[in-house]
Amino acid sequence: MLANSLIELDRAHLIHPVASYRGHEALGVRVLKSAKGATVTDASGRQLLDGFAGLWCVNAGYGHDSIVEAAARQMRELPYATAYFDLGSEPAIRLASELADRAPGDLNHVYFTLGGSDAVDSTIRFVRYYWNARGEPERDQFISIEQGYHGSSVVGAGLTALPAFHAGFGIPFEWQHKIPSPYPYRNPVGDDPNAIIAASLAALKAKIEEIGPERIAAFYAEPIQGSGGVIVPPKGWIKAMRELCREYGILFIADEVITGFGRTGPLFACTEEDIVPDFMTTAKGLTSGYVPMGAVFMADHV
Ligand SMILES: Cc1ncc(COP(=O)(O)O)c(C=O)c1O
Repeated sequence: MLANSLIELDRAHLIHPVASYRGHEALGVRVLKSAKGATVTDASGRQLLDGFAGLWCVNAGYGHDSIVEAAARQMRELPYATAYFDLGSEPAIRLASELADRAPGDLNHVYFTLGGSDAVDSTIRFVRYYWNARGEPERDQFISIEQGYHGSSVVGAGLTALPAFHAGFGIPFEWQHKIPSPYPYRNPVGDDPNAIIAASLAALKAKIEEIGPERIAAFYAEPIQGSGGVIVPPKGWIKAMRELCREYGILFIADEVITGFGRTGPLFACTEEDIVPDFMTTAKGLTSGYVPMGAVFMADHV
């Protein structure tokens, strides 16, 4: 009875992103009731293995009392504190410091966001501001990779390169360019890792030269293309792309929104190839997925 009325209320009022509206209306919502570890239980009592870990975010699993208690303690003491102006709060300052300690290289400055899309969006603003401040306002062109995903905000979704996020939404913008994915499966250059890396380098060089190197603001890459199909590029790929950006003086942004916080083994996937990006976006797993949140890391050298 309760579940049925929820299904009707959902049909009438709740918008579900990334769903076929007609299909969803016909099937009805699956109401999740509770969760423990890696298992979620729906309103009919059916248990499901949460292979997706929420939306790639519940890295620690569900039901950790220590996390719940820490959140409740903070809610009682100081549930909200902005970092605008000269204001701050102990948890935000300590978290920024702990994260800077653990981030690759000199990524020592942390800007907290509402999630991954907001983090990507923020880097676009930082990058534009950076080039304006450096007296190079003409650097306003951005390059990302086909099958990449960089969120669902208007500008971030333009860096995303999945057709369903573009069709009918008026994006990508004309300043958002793409190069082919280093997809190792059915890549036109075959499956030799060196050939795939060489093809990506050639494609990035060609795109930079086509637009004009003095016009390029930044290049965005995920260490593993997640939403585009969990595409793992060959070893050495991200290091080679990072180096090419350095040669051209283009900012390199690593989007670690889903690879960050231990998903690939080390805390950040960039460390697997010992690269230090100019900016790094993160989100999922930052608060073990219990509170949606993201962060942009900015390097000292920027
Ligand atoms: C690489 C990448 N960037 C950005 C985002 C956007 O993050 P959010 O869903 O927190 O807005 C995602 C989401 O999965 C992502 O995988």
